[in-house]
Amino acid sequence: MESIKIYDKTFKVSISAEVIKKRVEELGKQISKEMEGRNPLFLAVLNGSFIFGADLYREITIPSEITFVKLASYAGTVTTGIVSEVIGLNVDLTGRDVIIVEDIVDTGLTMQQMLETLSLQNPASVKICTLLTKPEKLQVPLTLDYVAFEIPNLFVVGYGLDYDQQGRNLKDIYELAE
Ligand code: IMP
Repeated sequence: MESIKIYDKTFKVSISAEVIKKRVEELGKQISKEMEGRNPLFLAVLNGSFIFGADLYREITIPSEITFVKLASYAGTVTTGIVSEVIGLNVDLTGRDVIIVEDIVDTGLTMQQMLETLSLQNPASVKICTLLTKPEKLQVPLTLDYVAFEIPNLFVVGYGLDYDQQGRNLKDIYELAE
């Protein structure tokens, strides 16, 4: 199996580009069906979701909008801190049906914080769409409305996800091999 090295760590393919593509198409169809007539606002969380967000959004076939926000950063292979600020949100969420687009829900703390922040603006609804989640690591009760893949508790890179800012350009998703 193809493996790659980033800095000191070796990674092997976990989810291939082909499998990702198929699943993103399915999710796009599902969301388009369920959100028909509601002009949802996709809120993609940078940097990690820039590739997933772009691919998913092109599978959406209903009138909708997309915007991008940033949260605090993540360095290394453990969650470094809790994020409280949503930066760059210049759309009024009042009465909107919001779909947060994330790369990965790990402990869920980031998402919990984000939900609290967004709810202050009285959106009609907030749904979570994540490329990946590690169910074993989830520390808070969260409803993940749309999940592309559930993965084991291993650090992953590729398809937008990074290891110390490297590896976002990889077409497949890789997991730590050692
Ligand atoms: P949480 O608050 O623990 O859910 O962390 C979510 C954030 O941590 C994600 O948006 C990622 O930026 C980062 N993260 C968590 N696990 C991984 C991983 O396996 N690879 C890359 N980034 C990760």
